[in-house]
Amino acid sequence: MSFLQQLEQSVSQIPDRFKEMSEAELNQIIQESKHRLGEDLFIPGHHYQKEEVIAFADARGDSLGLAQLSANTSAKHIVFCGVHFMAETADILSTDEQHVYLPDLRAGCSMADMADIQQTEKSWNSLTSQLGDTILPITYVNSTAAIKAFVGRNGGATVTSSNATSIIEWAFTQKERILFLPDQHLGRNTAYELGVPLEQMAIWDPILEKLHFEGDEQNIKVILWKGHCSVHENFTVQNVHDVREKHPEMNIIVHPECSHEVVQISDESGSTRKIIETIENAPAGSSWAIGTEMNLVKRLIKENPDKYIMSLNPHMCPCLTMNRIDLAHLAWCLDSLVNDDPINRIEVDPQIAKEATLALNRMLNSN
Ligand code: 13P
Ligand code: SF4
Repeated sequence: MSFLQQLEQSVSQIPDRFKEMSEAELNQIIQESKHRLGEDLFIPGHHYQKEEVIAFADARGDSLGLAQLSANTSAKHIVFCGVHFMAETADILSTDEQHVYLPDLRAGCSMADMADIQQTEKSWNSLTSQLGDTILPITYVNSTAAIKAFVGRNGGATVTSSNATSIIEWAFTQKERILFLPDQHLGRNTAYELGVPLEQMAIWDPILEKLHFEGDEQNIKVILWKGHCSVHENFTVQNVHDVREKHPEMNIIVHPECSHEVVQISDESGSTRKIIETIENAPAGSSWAIGTEMNLVKRLIKENPDKYIMSLNPHMCPCLTMNRIDLAHLAWCLDSLVNDDPINRIEVDPQIAKEATLALNRMLNSN
């Protein structure tokens, strides 16, 4: 893609009239469109979406829950309030008659962008020529459909943060070692919890096209793709020390996309789903510092007034790409469906979808 095309894509195509509308006008368009489209419309909303948007979601969930719902809904139009890889997954799992839309096409995921299919094929050629047919590729759902297809055709599976442990356990029954894409932290934290020592984990650097490992390569159990989440990376060891010093009574819970060091010194770690359940089930009066996306932390604060909750990092911002879905884009997208002139459809190439389904089904059928 040329620089000019990239620049064009970085600006949303939304017509000015939606940008100029008041919140009340946008709310009205959304409400009326939902009413007009009725059962033909399904709006899944990820837990990281902002409040104004999640208010219109038909279902809220983490990436696993929303993938399952997308596979089961019979609605004709799925308007996905989340990020690009989630909408792609919904398109793969839904039927050909159902169409998926992303209200703002700029709602990507910086982690998913850290692995492309060309880099993945190159790494695979290099790693399999070094280590033979001993590797099973596993990818976090936060990846492109092309990478899911690559994983599917090579016998592997997708994971989400809530089932990474069981899928990696399964992976080791299939092959001697795994290649985990694209989040090194989720891969490292999960494999460590399963008993793989850090000394048996290597890192694949897709920029340098190089495997980093000290010692005999035959001892490698896990090859971690050098990618990360730019949101969760902002929770630091210093944040944990600061909370421990100022609020010694506080429980600290973090998402496994945080670094290994942060996860190790926190009280608990777990997926979006586990964080929500832990807070909901915690005793009244308990206090929590949470290391995850800010829209979710704010919602947990609002919905659990009997607990004292704060972000582990006091200067934390929401995930910028998740936040691109706003009232104006949702109204624009729904209005386009009502007027039979849909915008922002997410359509995965059928061959890619077929192979990606293999990887997704290995995950979904194990849940
Ligand atoms: P979940 O798999 O927990 O929904 O998280 C998705 C995500 O993007 C985390 O940053
Ligand atoms: Fe991607 Fe991180 Fe945002 Fe999740 S929070 S969508 S991993 S950038």
